[in-house]
Amino acid sequence: MSSQIDHLLNEDRRFAPSPEFAASAIADADLYARAAEDRLGFWADHARDLHWHTPFTEVLDWSNPPFAKWFDDGELNVAYNCLDRHVEAGNGDRAALLWEGEPGDERRVTYAELTDEVKRVANVLEGLGVVAGDRVAIYMPMIPEAIAAMLAVVRIGAIHSVVFGGFSADSLRARIDDAGAKVVITADGGYRKGKVSALKPAVDQALSDRGAGVQETVEHVLVVRRGENEVDWTDGRDIWWHDAVPAASADHDAPALPAEHPLFILYTSGTTGKPKGILHTSAGYLTQAAFTNRVVHDIHPESDVYWCTADVGWITGHTYVTYGPLANGATQVIYEGTPDAPHPGRWWEIVEKYGVTVLYTAPTAIRSFMKIGRAVPQSFDLSSLRVLGSVGEPINPEAWMWYREIIGADSAPIVDTWWQTETGAIMVSALPGVTETKPGSAQAPIPGISIDVVDEQGRHVGNGNGGLLVVTEPWPSMLRGIWGDPERFVETYWEKFRDQGFYFAGDGARLDDDGDVWLLGRVDDVMNVSGHRLSTAEIESSLVAHEATAEAAVVGASDETTGQAVVAFVILKESYLAAHAPEGLAQQLRLWVGEQIGPIARPRDIYIVSELPKTRSGKIMRRLLRDVAEGREVGDTTTLADTAVMSVISAQVK
Ligand code: WTA
Repeated sequence: MSSQIDHLLNEDRRFAPSPEFAASAIADADLYARAAEDRLGFWADHARDLHWHTPFTEVLDWSNPPFAKWFDDGELNVAYNCLDRHVEAGNGDRAALLWEGEPGDERRVTYAELTDEVKRVANVLEGLGVVAGDRVAIYMPMIPEAIAAMLAVVRIGAIHSVVFGGFSADSLRARIDDAGAKVVITADGGYRKGKVSALKPAVDQALSDRGAGVQETVEHVLVVRRGENEVDWTDGRDIWWHDAVPAASADHDAPALPAEHPLFILYTSGTTGKPKGILHTSAGYLTQAAFTNRVVHDIHPESDVYWCTADVGWITGHTYVTYGPLANGATQVIYEGTPDAPHPGRWWEIVEKYGVTVLYTAPTAIRSFMKIGRAVPQSFDLSSLRVLGSVGEPINPEAWMWYREIIGADSAPIVDTWWQTETGAIMVSALPGVTETKPGSAQAPIPGISIDVVDEQGRHVGNGNGGLLVVTEPWPSMLRGIWGDPERFVETYWEKFRDQGFYFAGDGARLDDDGDVWLLGRVDDVMNVSGHRLSTAEIESSLVAHEATAEAAVVGASDETTGQAVVAFVILKESYLAAHAPEGLAQQLRLWVGEQIGPIARPRDIYIVSELPKTRSGKIMRRLLRDVAEGREVGDTTTLADTAVMSVISAQVK
């Protein structure tokens, strides 16, 4: 990796946890030493924090790589670990979920109540003929029933496939068909941006437009009433939750299931058009989910109010809304709606109202709040916050500093957590009571995880150099495969470094002089300009560091002379525009990037736009921007949150 990224690495601000924080933190520096001494014994100890119906004797079976088995001869029940055991330990009255609907309605659900509900739903599903190994699709808004549904499915050994409620009927159909789901659990609709957004019609459509030769696998649709919008009904197939669940028995013994029993499938996009069904299994996944939630988010279940803003439709919502916090017996906030409904301070109002202590969110959200301005969060009492987490993409140092200063009162440690749908749980992160944090760096593998940064041949690059992020040893929450496609699993993640047996993450990274990790974005987003490698993340970071810029996306567009050229799409801050004319700004920004990084990084084109194309999880779809930058017809936009946005951008670019 060229020296162009040096400016990011010259970041020399450092933030150590306060002595008081360090003294009360769950994780101390000894964790690293214990894991280094006996990695498998370390994970076995953490696995034993769970309740086992049958204790395991074997920790890892890696005799047939890359197909790992963890704790293989043990048996447990994931839902029992998230629910019943807390009730049995006397914590049934503790709030599991502090739910806030977008219109302002609220529900406090205790561990006892959630356990009761899950047992009833488990009985309903069994009554519908769902047995262990069957697949159940879940397509729901962020309401307590979504979490109850997930836990009920896994309680009986069935496998859930949660499909984000913002996905279209077509995407839902593709996922139902790939998994061969027997039941779909949905709602009439949920609240988004002040209105009811219907869900049931998409399920109806997904189940009615069958392609030729596609076998109908869905037998029943279980429907929660939330939006109270009008819905069509198919007698015999459709069942109201409020008819079936309260009528079912609340007695249900959680069966013992093998440690490697499949837990869920979650679809994620890959390099090809067809989404991959990432498969996770039970004990290893839950072990790492619970452990990381405890040590990285520093969860003290008896006192913290934790809030992860992710939807359960994404891996972050699986691991850090449903499984991790509930396995730990934590109390968490769940919010149904969008951050700006009905006003731009909604999130901060929720933090104040519930006294949120630990907040876990994405850089894209932080940057949108920066764009609105600090006055909004500053009008709420955020003094309860003591740990701030970031996930999903590299967080540029400016956003990191803003998060710390404006949201965290310049004292809450920030944990920038790197991981993927495939890794199941956090892999690289600071520990908030231990690590001296650096704005923009995810820092170090968590205890028990072995990662490296290597060159194309799989050789360690050494401090001060860039390369590819790999995981060098199997880990408990690793994906076990791609549903129905073992070859694609091997080929996508294990082929590139087959000789070394490394997992290839698809991310570029660099080690600084201390050996800390800086993520540089997907390697498919790394550009090569005149033989120099440039990171999109780095140029974006530089653009965002300019006072005029709210958000930026950079792509490498093909260029006849230089191979690739840097093309940037920039959204300006409203506050800046109120005081300055936009004329000449694109040129100023070009020079700014040239100054910050070097002339080679100067974007060939900078387009000032009002929107960026984002998926529903907030990821920028650079592929579409590349189409615009290269003057091509814009490709498939179906996974965009707002499919109209590309015509707006194309018009602004012309
Ligand atoms: C990116 C989300 C930099 C990365 C949990 C990864 C990050 C992809 C970070 C996985 C981070 C996630 N810093 N990049 N802290 N966290 N990424 O599957 O490119 O939705 O490969 O999982 O997001 O995205 P996914």
